[in-house]
Amino acid sequence: MPASDRTLSAVTLPSEWSASSWRSRTAMQLPHYPDAAELASTLAELRALPPLVTSWEILSLKQQLAEAQEGKRFLLQGGDCAESFDACASEVISNRLKVLLQMSLVLVHGMRKPVVRVGRFAGQYAKPRSTDTETIGGVTLPSYRGDMVNAPAFTEAARRPDPRRMIKAHARSAMTMNFVRALIDGGFADLHHPEYWNLSWVGHSPLADEYRRMVNAIGDAVHFMETLSGAEVHNLNRVDFYTSHEALLLPYEESLTRQVPRHWGWFNLSTHFPWIGMRTAAADGAHAEYFRGIRNPIALKVGPSVTPEQLLRIIDLLNPEDEPGRLSFIHRMGAGHIAEKLPPLLEAIRRDGRRVLWVCDPMHGNTEATANGYKTRRFANIGSELEQAFDLHAAAGTRLGGVHLELTGEDVTECLGGARDLTEVDLERAYQSTVDPRLNYEQALEVAMLIVRKHTQIASPT
Ligand code: PEP
Ligand code: CO
Repeated sequence: MPASDRTLSAVTLPSEWSASSWRSRTAMQLPHYPDAAELASTLAELRALPPLVTSWEILSLKQQLAEAQEGKRFLLQGGDCAESFDACASEVISNRLKVLLQMSLVLVHGMRKPVVRVGRFAGQYAKPRSTDTETIGGVTLPSYRGDMVNAPAFTEAARRPDPRRMIKAHARSAMTMNFVRALIDGGFADLHHPEYWNLSWVGHSPLADEYRRMVNAIGDAVHFMETLSGAEVHNLNRVDFYTSHEALLLPYEESLTRQVPRHWGWFNLSTHFPWIGMRTAAADGAHAEYFRGIRNPIALKVGPSVTPEQLLRIIDLLNPEDEPGRLSFIHRMGAGHIAEKLPPLLEAIRRDGRRVLWVCDPMHGNTEATANGYKTRRFANIGSELEQAFDLHAAAGTRLGGVHLELTGEDVTECLGGARDLTEVDLERAYQSTVDPRLNYEQALEVAMLIVRKHTQIASPT
């Protein structure tokens, strides 16, 4: 049992809060379940099921995020826009883990600081939508809201919100967690064997040489330290991996919100690091009410319409005692807006002086539709938003402490550009996402290399 609770416990329980107090507020983006009795019995069943994570893992992540706030670590958070029940499969899970491990290796090597690894997985099954319904050929049905709520096919049966899907989402999340934990415990992340994480592309990618040089340099360093100390370098075979998802479907989150024997307060035990999406971020809304009472580290997506006053108010609500590691702001402005929209927010928070971890999501402000009907993002815009973010933080005297990405370990063609310069025609080859376009493994690694280049340039300007 960790001792960390002592250092992080100088915070009082929020007033008049309970795991269900969000129900008295306006809740955006929740489905309407037609059968109330079925919903109630499902939630009772969920409340009796075991949690997916533990309170001490949550507190150790909070400690790591506190260190990231001080510039001692960098956060890498990534995964699918939405997980699907069908993609809860061995290869998909291990490939996603591989690409995240490779990216973290690039970041650790290039930034010379430990990386906090957080997956958007094991629970990323509920999605906000711009409209409640969708109309095709005169037929109107509820929008698809993620596999935890309904199914994507445009039929009445598929689109009916089904509470039983929450049980399935819990089970799929547990299977994903179980496999990730087993891989890591089994030495999958062993730095002595980075070749375990090679994806098939490494042999023929334009980035392969740079990546291989890095792996060799790390191998040499490990060997050097072992020679020097005459013993194996320990702790290189294990890494910490944490989970996160948008805690959108509050009835589900409430059911997994528990008290534990050895720590005070309430924890969301469905994930380590839940976040509030941009569409549900209102300070007087149900989601903010739910989040203010849990002890997890939490994040908030910050879009271009947020004002400095709103951001300060949300800090009052979500982290009134300025607890280290508690609050992250994930800005997602778009390459064309970040230079105008971000600096006033950075300035206000810097002047206020309270702690946040600033994270850049260069994906969600850069979504566009192609002429042939695909939702896509241009690598150039993603890279540009990230580079601008580093510069804007440097100019404001704040620190970019992490990155939030939509990516997959699969060879998909969903985002344009990158080292292989994918074009609109390429999108037809392997477009799989039912929601937002993701970086493929190669584009994801390229983003990691771009971060290192930019970070180095900021740290030692020529
Ligand atoms: C997402 O992260 O998939 C998402 C919907 O983001 P945002 O809330 O920033 O639009
Ligand atoms: Co998305």
